[in-house]
Amino acid sequence: MSPQPQAAVGAPLSRVDGRLKVTGKALYAAEHDVDGVVHAVIVDSSIGRGRITSIDTGAAEALPGVLKVIHHRNAPKLPYRDNSASNNPPEGRRLRVFQDDRVRFHGQPVAVVVATTLEAAQHGASLVEVDYDAERPSTDLTEAEPDEPTRYARGDAEAALRSAAVRLDLTYRTARNHHNPMEPHATIARWNGDKLTVWDKTQWVVGTQTELAAVFGLDLDAVRVISPFVGGGFGTALRCWPHVVVAALAARETKRPVKLVLSRKQMYLGTGFRPSYEYRLRLGSDRRGRLAAAVHDLDAETSSYEKFTEAVLAAGQMLYSMPHVSQAYRTVPLDLPTPLWMRGPGFQTASFVIESAMDELAHELGVDPIELRRRNEPAEDESSGLPFSTRRLRECYSVGAREFGWDRRNPEPRSTREGDWLIGRGMAAGVYDTARMPARARARLDADGTALVEAAATDMGPGTYTSQTQVAADALGLTVRTVTFRLGDSLYPPTPPHGGSMTMASVGSATLDACNKVRRQAIGLAVGDRESPLYGVAADDVVVRGGRLHVKNDPARGETYRRLLTRNDRTHLEADGSFAPPSGPQRHSFYGYNATFAEVAVDATLGLVRVRRVLGVYDAGRIISPKLADSQAIGGMVGGIGTALLEHTLTDHRDGRIVNANLADYLVPVNADVPDLKAIYLDGEDREADPLGVKGLGELVMIGVAPAIANAVFNATGRRVRELPITAEALL
Ligand code: MOS
Repeated sequence: MSPQPQAAVGAPLSRVDGRLKVTGKALYAAEHDVDGVVHAVIVDSSIGRGRITSIDTGAAEALPGVLKVIHHRNAPKLPYRDNSASNNPPEGRRLRVFQDDRVRFHGQPVAVVVATTLEAAQHGASLVEVDYDAERPSTDLTEAEPDEPTRYARGDAEAALRSAAVRLDLTYRTARNHHNPMEPHATIARWNGDKLTVWDKTQWVVGTQTELAAVFGLDLDAVRVISPFVGGGFGTALRCWPHVVVAALAARETKRPVKLVLSRKQMYLGTGFRPSYEYRLRLGSDRRGRLAAAVHDLDAETSSYEKFTEAVLAAGQMLYSMPHVSQAYRTVPLDLPTPLWMRGPGFQTASFVIESAMDELAHELGVDPIELRRRNEPAEDESSGLPFSTRRLRECYSVGAREFGWDRRNPEPRSTREGDWLIGRGMAAGVYDTARMPARARARLDADGTALVEAAATDMGPGTYTSQTQVAADALGLTVRTVTFRLGDSLYPPTPPHGGSMTMASVGSATLDACNKVRRQAIGLAVGDRESPLYGVAADDVVVRGGRLHVKNDPARGETYRRLLTRNDRTHLEADGSFAPPSGPQRHSFYGYNATFAEVAVDATLGLVRVRRVLGVYDAGRIISPKLADSQAIGGMVGGIGTALLEHTLTDHRDGRIVNANLADYLVPVNADVPDLKAIYLDGEDREADPLGVKGLGELVMIGVAPAIANAVFNATGRRVRELPITAEALL
C-alpha cells in the first residue's frame, strides 16, 4: 500500500473536545442525568486499626429522606471472586467492603447512608454512631518491619564498592504523595434486574467492568461501565476502589440508582497514593567518574492486606553503564490503604535518588554533571544485553545544554547571587519504559463520507480524543472534522489501562489498523468497480485524501468515498483493528528519555525556593499531537515542581489519621509557583516499538524535574537536601 499522506498527525491541533469542555457540556462521572437517582455518603472509620464493636444507625434512619444505612452487620456477603487474571492487582487480598468488622486503616468505609437528597445523606452519615475496639496503628515506614526483599544482582557490587576509588553512601527519603485530580472520584450505579450500569471516574472502563463482575459474581456482559470524560487522574483512577463497590451495593440494596461522590477529604482516604520511600544508594566509581558499582536498598510503604510494588529498580539497572549492581526492594506493610501508581510510577522515585546521587558524585569529583553522565552512557541495556530500540540521551544533553545555557552555570555552589537570592542551575536525566499492551478498536466509514472510530479507552487529560482522531483521519484519508472518535464505554472494543503512557502506542496502533483496513476495503471496492474512475488501478497505487480516493501520481483520476459507497449501495464499510506487542523474546530494550534542566532562586535568609525556569528535552519517539504534547510536558513539569517542593501527605502516627487531607494544607503548585517552562522534542520515531513510532510521553515529562530542581538548589545554596519535598526549614 502507498503510504497515506500525513496531514493531521503532527499538526498542532486544539482539542477536538475543547468546546464541550469549556462550555460545560462534557459530562463527568457525577454529572450524568440518571432518572430517580438517590445519594450515598460513606461513613469513614475514625480509628486507624481495630474492630467495630457496635454501630447505631437509629438516628440516621429516623431522618426524613434516609432510605437505608448499610454496614457489615446488614450487608449481604458478596462473592468477591478472584480477579487477578484480568486485573493484575497487587499481591494479597483486596479490601472487601462491609464484609467484616475489621478496620485496616484510618478512613476505611464502615457504613454508607443512602437518602433521597445529598443533604439528608450527609446529615445521616454524621448521625451514625460507631464504637470501636481501637489498636494503635503502625503507619511509620521507618519504624515498621519490612517484608522479605525482592532482589536484583549482577556482578559483585559489595566487593566492587569496597575496592572503588570513590565511594558515596547516601540515603534519600521521599514523601507520600496523593494524586489530587480536580475531579473527585464519583460513581453512579444503576441495576436493571441482574444487569449493572455504572458511570464512573475511571482510567480503565474494562478494569472496572471486570472487577465489578468479580465482586458481585456476574457475567462480564452483565456489567457496563461508562466514562467519557475524566477530570484528571495521574493514576488514581486505574483501580476500581471500594467506593465503587459501595455505590453498586447501595443501588442493589435500595433498588434505586445511586450516586456517590467522594469529598475532597475522602480523596486522601482510600483511593491510592504514591508511597513514601527510604532509599539508600551506595555508588562506587574511579577517579574519572566511571561507575563500577551501585547498591540500592529501598523500603516502600504498602498496606497490611496487599503488597504494592512499582518499577523503582529498572532505572538503576540500565540508565548508566556499570558492571556491578545489587538491589533490594523491601515493602513495609502498614495500616494504610494500598498505594497505587502515580504519574511516572517507580521511575520518578528512582530518578530523584539516582540523579541526585550523580550530581553528588559530579561535585565530589569536580566533573561537569553532563560530562559525568556521558562517561557512563551504556552501549546496550546492561540488564538484558539487548540493544536499545532508540536511545538519544546524548542528544538530549547537547540540545538541552545549548538551549538552557548550561555553559553559563558556575559549578561552584553558592557562587551566584542576585540581591537576597542565591541562584542555582541543575540538571537530571530521565527515563521511562515504553509500555504497550494489546488493544482493539473499531472503525466505520459511512456513505456520507464521515467516519466513526470506537475504543474503550480513556482521556484523563492528555488528549486521547484528539490524537486518536488525528491517527484515524490520516489512515482514512479524511479531514479531522469528518472523523469522530468515541471512548470510555465498556461496550466498545477493549483497551488496556489508560496509564503507564501506553494509550497512544496501544490504542493508537489499533485505531491505525482498523482505519487502514477500512481504507483498503474502499480501495478494493473502487479498483474492482467498472464504473469507478479507479477501475483496474493497482490498489497499491491509490491513496485517499480529504475523503477522495485517487491515483497517487495522478490526483485527477479518482472519486470520493461518498460517490463510491452510494453507487455501490453500501451504507458503510466497517473493520475491527487490533494491536499487540510482539510476543516471544524481546529483541530490543524500549525506553523514552529526557534531559531536564532547572534554574532556581533561593532566598538566602528565608530558605524560600522559587523555580525560575525548567527545560525538558525529550526522546519520546514520534509526536502525534504537538500542542497536546506541550500541554502534557507543562503539566508534568508542574507536577515535578510539586513533588520537589510542596507535596507531602502527613500522617499522625498516633492514630493513622491524615492531617492534611485537603487542598489548603496539602500543597500543590499554583500559578504563582510556575515559571517559564519549555519542552523540546527530538524529531524522530521508534520503528521497533509500535506502528506509530511513539514511545509514550505522559510519565516521561514528569521524571527528572524533581532531581533537576534539587540539584539546582544545591548549586544555589551548597545545601544538599536528600528528602522530598525540599522545604524552607531544610535550607535554613
Ligand atoms: Mo499513570 S500513573 O500510569 O495514570
